Amino acid sequence: MYTARTERYDSMFYRRCGRSGLRLPALSLGLWHNFGGVDSLSNSRAMLCRAFDLGITHFDLANNYGPPPGSAEETFGQALKMDLKAYRDELIISTKAGYNMWPGPYGEWGSRKYLLASLDQSLLRMRLDYVDIFYSHRPDPETPLEETMAALAHAVVSGKALYVGISDYSPQQTGEAIEILRNLSVPCLIHQVQYSMFRRGPEQGLLDVLGREGVGCIAFSPLAQGLLTDRYLDGLPGDSRAAKSYSFLKKSDVTEDTLARVRALNELASARGQSLAQMALAWTLRDSRMTSVIIGASKVGQIDQNIATPNNLRFTEEELRRIDDVLVREAVTP
Ligand SMILES: NC(=O)c1ccc[n+]([C@@H]2O[C@H](COP(=O)([O-])OP(=O)(O)OC[C@H]3O[C@@H](n4cnc5c(N)ncnc54)[C@H](OP(=O)(O)O)[C@@H]3O)[C@@H](O)[C@H]2O)c1
Repeated sequence: MYTARTERYDSMFYRRCGRSGLRLPALSLGLWHNFGGVDSLSNSRAMLCRAFDLGITHFDLANNYGPPPGSAEETFGQALKMDLKAYRDELIISTKAGYNMWPGPYGEWGSRKYLLASLDQSLLRMRLDYVDIFYSHRPDPETPLEETMAALAHAVVSGKALYVGISDYSPQQTGEAIEILRNLSVPCLIHQVQYSMFRRGPEQGLLDVLGREGVGCIAFSPLAQGLLTDRYLDGLPGDSRAAKSYSFLKKSDVTEDTLARVRALNELASARGQSLAQMALAWTLRDSRMTSVIIGASKVGQIDQNIATPNNLRFTEEELRRIDDVLVREAVTP
């Protein structure tokens, strides 16, 4: 029987999500990998409970997380029932719809038909009455943006979501989506986007749009799926993401060039008294428009290590310059 630590709010800090009333923890936990039907339920429960014990109040899901698709939501539903149910009002639970979930023309993308059916399915799998944030997981090039945004707004009006967000929309699409939602009196809470030292796309206009419009930003894969850690410095561990056949991170992504940069970044992190993972997370949070970063984890120990990040979030100009030097350095020939 799980009882949360009474000190769980002592060390985490919480940033306001844009100009909304909601604050999110600097570190959130995502269930994309390691929480599926193929993974150990006891390990998943242990990670969720540990995260909550350390002040991580936000858990990020999507309809398709697993494998198999949907099973991460089922795992989360079980953990809620067994461990976290008493704390529902302390949790921010998000899910998304956009990627392929069932056969036929209504099983993916951005139609009202798909989004609202998918949200109902997600609620059943997680055994919830409502989610805190419901996202459009990706823009649909064929469905009118007005239809997708109206479906999000309906999720709120019908009481099945408290807030809505978008993911992977371009700066221009983001501006348009924010405007449509505002006209529907359901403000866009947040944009979820890939951001890390290795993927700096949001710096090209997206953060400016979000800052101007008062919409939060949450970074996914801030550790570049584990590359921005010490995970691959001594080879390819058998239990790592890159070693798993169904992962998005492939063995071929762990190149000599990447490892050379990782080693150089690792030295800079040591000089700051941090692990590389901690420095990579701190770097991603250095801009105050970044509300939170969603980490993934396969072990409780990784969460324990990453949670110390807020102890050192400040970078000198010199440190930032040295990091940039490593990131833009010419490719290393093996
Ligand atoms: N909106 C979208 O389209 C989208 C797309 C992708 C992800 N997301 C969200 O973002 C979340 C996070 O993505 P992610 O899992 O790719 O994030 P990540 O934090 O970049 O990578 C997580 C992986 O890094 C490794 N790791 C974490 N801490 C470590 C440490 N201290 N030392 C060594 N290795 C460490 C683990 O790899 P091992 O498993 O090898 O141990 C872990 O599984 C997802 O769960 C999902 O919620 C959203």
